[in-house]
This record gives sequence, C-alpha cells and structure tokens, in this order.
Amino acid sequence: MPRLLVTGGAGFIGANFVHYWLREHAADRVVVLDALTYAGNLGNLKTVAGNPQYRFVRGDICDRELVEGLLREESIDTLVHFAAESHVDRSITGPGAFVQTNVLGTYSLLEAVRKVWLGERTVARHRFHHVSTDEVYGSLGPDDPPFSETTAYAPNSPYSASKAASDHLVRAYHHTYGLSTTTSNCSNNYGPYHFPEKLIPLMIVNILHGRSLPIYGDGGNVRDWLYVEDHCRGIDLIVSNGKVGEVYNIGGRAECENLKLVQLLCEHADDEVRARPELHSRFPACPASRGESAASLVKFVTDRPGHDRRYAIDSRKIERDLGFKPTVSIAQGLRRTLAWYLGNEDWWQSVMDGRYQDWITTQYQRR
Ligand code: NAD
Ligand code: TYD
Repeated sequence: MPRLLVTGGAGFIGANFVHYWLREHAADRVVVLDALTYAGNLGNLKTVAGNPQYRFVRGDICDRELVEGLLREESIDTLVHFAAESHVDRSITGPGAFVQTNVLGTYSLLEAVRKVWLGERTVARHRFHHVSTDEVYGSLGPDDPPFSETTAYAPNSPYSASKAASDHLVRAYHHTYGLSTTTSNCSNNYGPYHFPEKLIPLMIVNILHGRSLPIYGDGGNVRDWLYVEDHCRGIDLIVSNGKVGEVYNIGGRAECENLKLVQLLCEHADDEVRARPELHSRFPACPASRGESAASLVKFVTDRPGHDRRYAIDSRKIERDLGFKPTVSIAQGLRRTLAWYLGNEDWWQSVMDGRYQDWITTQYQRR
C-alpha cells in the first residue's frame, strides 16, 4: 500500500487532497508535513484527525533533517508536494518568501528524497509528484491557443517565476539523477477551505458582509476555473497511472472573465440569500437581505502590476492518456462553494480575524 508524504496538506488544495485520498484510498498511509503559515490551518484537517492512517507533523520543507527522518521512519514511497507560497499579490509585495519556500524548499525536498530514496534505497519504488500552476507559461492574447505541456515557460510574477524554477529543478532531478518524478500544471482552483484572500472566497465573504467587490483593472482578465476536487482526482490519476518524467496540464475547460465570474457569483448569492430568510438575520448587510443585488457592490480598482491577461489550459494529454475529465461545471462549483462558506462561517471568520493563528501559537510549537 502506498505511503504518502503530503507537503502543504493543511492548505487549501492540500487539505482537499488529504480528504480525497483518505476517502478513495482508505488503506494508504498519509503523513502531512506543513509549517502552518498564515495559509495553513489545522481546522482544514479536523475531520480526518482521528483516522489512524493519518498523521500531522508541523515543520518546514526546508528542514532537510526532519524530512529525511520522516521518509525513513514512515517508509514514505510517494511524496505529493503542495507546500508553497501561493498568492500572486503577496509575491509582488514580498517575493523573498516565495524564493525561500517555492525554490529553496523544493530543492531541499529533492535533496532529501535523493539521499533517502536513491542513496539509501529505502523503498523499492518511489514517486515525487510536484504540484504546479499554469501561471508558469505566462499570459495569452485573446486568440492564442491554450497552454500545452510544450508551451515555452514565460513567468511574469515573482510567484510564477518561483514555481517555474521549482518545476525546472524537478525536471533536472529526473533527468540527472533518475528520480521518478511527475509534475502537474493546473489552472485556478476554487472550493472549500479556500483562503479568503483569493478571488472567489474573498468575493463570497464580501458579498455576505455587504462590502465592496474589488475588481482589478477592467475585469476582462481571463482564468480557467477548476473545482478543487477535480484537481485532486487529476493528481490521483497521475500519481497512480502517470508516466514517470512526464508533465501533465490540468484544466477545467471553463475560461471566464473575472467580471463575468463575479457577476455569476452575485446572482447565485442573491438567489440563495433571498430564498433563505434565516440568512437575512445572519448577514443583515448582505444586499439580498435588504432586497438589493450583490452586483451593486462591484468596484473597479487599480490593476495588479504585471497582471497576466489570460490563462487557458489544453488538457488533452491527461484526458487522452489518463481518462481525466472535469466533472463539476462552473455553475455547480460556485453553488457548492457558496453553500460551503454559508455552512462554515466559523472557519472563515476565524482565519480572517486571526483567531486561528493566535490559537496555533499557544497550542502548536513549530519544530
Ligand atoms: P495555500 O497557500 O492554500 O497552501 C499552502 C500550504 O503550504 C499551507 O498550508 C502552508 O502552511 C504550507 N507551507 C507554506 N510554506 C511552507 C513551508 N516552508 N514548509 C511547509 N509547509 C509550508 O496554497 P494552495 O492554493 O493550496 O496551493 C497548493 C499548491 O498548488 C501550490 O504549490 C500552488 O502553487 C499550486 N497551485 C495552486 C492553484 C490554486 O488555484 N490555488 C492552482 C494551481 C496550482
Ligand atoms: P487570484 O485568486 O489571486 O488568483 P491568480 O492571480 O493566481 O489567478 O486572482 C484571480 C483573478 O482575479 C486575477 O485575474 C486577479 C483577480 N482579482 C481581482 O480582480 N480582485 C481581487 O480582489 C483578487 C484577489 C483577484
């Protein structure tokens, strides 16, 4: 049975992946390594905490001694690497943390597995799966074909540049040392446990509080949206059946302009809040609680510096070779996500007002 080390498993996609994996592969061992930065939250893993197949370790991916120890102690044969600094806006104001975790952290993990898996030969078969982003390919014009696995890298933000560097390191460790690697480059995810600094959860929270909805620039930037559980399934297909040394693009076939996406979300929120009178007292400032529309909150703000105009993914390779298909449409996914945020107010209130980080510093010592 596979024995997984999941880095960044307390973050948005990592936590969804841990839930997914323990449900779909109940006999496998899943060890999570996460530093619990502002983006990591043990509350994301609360429902698996009692599972004997699961273990949580707080620590930094740059701590090579810790990683090597875990690889040996847990006989890890599969490493799924999510840990990263992931927010473009933060990378613009503070790129250092992105170089540290995304570049040096990935390098440190690669060195640890090289030593233990290739040097000490602790496991018969191993896999290092690197989770990356479509942003490494840069920005598309309106009529350009979508990014394929052979599109030249052209990262534009410190975030995407740091992810591109980590992709190159993973590639080099396969070619130079024979490490069994796979990489996935995925489009924008959304769904439960998404930190409310990213577009969709930020808009949901602001709609409920009746706060303005900041749209960067003219709102015409395009992203391809994938419901997070579909991404987790795509990674499973690659880890289980993907070809060693290969790169797979994963996308939702759901390109949408930011303004259009936010308007769609406003319509869903209006419908939901209007239909449920109990929400009017919980969210009295929400426009629909007052008979108004959330779209009235849209506010155009100064554009993000270097803002990539369009991302689009050609995911024919993973569809053809591994049978991947997104199963959740954007309309279904937005409804599900809205329902999750309505049902988990304590989660987002606590991550937003810092209660969670206060709790962490008293309860959980960093190694
Ligand atoms: P996230 O910011 O929600 O979570 C990142 C997690 O990594 C957090 O739990 C954090 O505590 C942990 N972490 C950060 N630095 C660490 C360190 N030095 N050591 C150990 N743990 C550390 O990110 P996410 O949105 O879940 O993204 C996960 C991965 O998927 C990232 O590699 C990201 O580049 C990639 N990705 C994200 C998207 C997206 O839309 N969110 C799309 C494609 C690819
Ligand atoms: P984001 O969720 O930060 O993901 P990424 O930058 O990695 O694609 O942003 C998605 C898009 O939404 C991006 O084009 C920037 C835009 N955006 C806004 O217009 N307003 C906001 O408040 C945020 C957070 C993002």
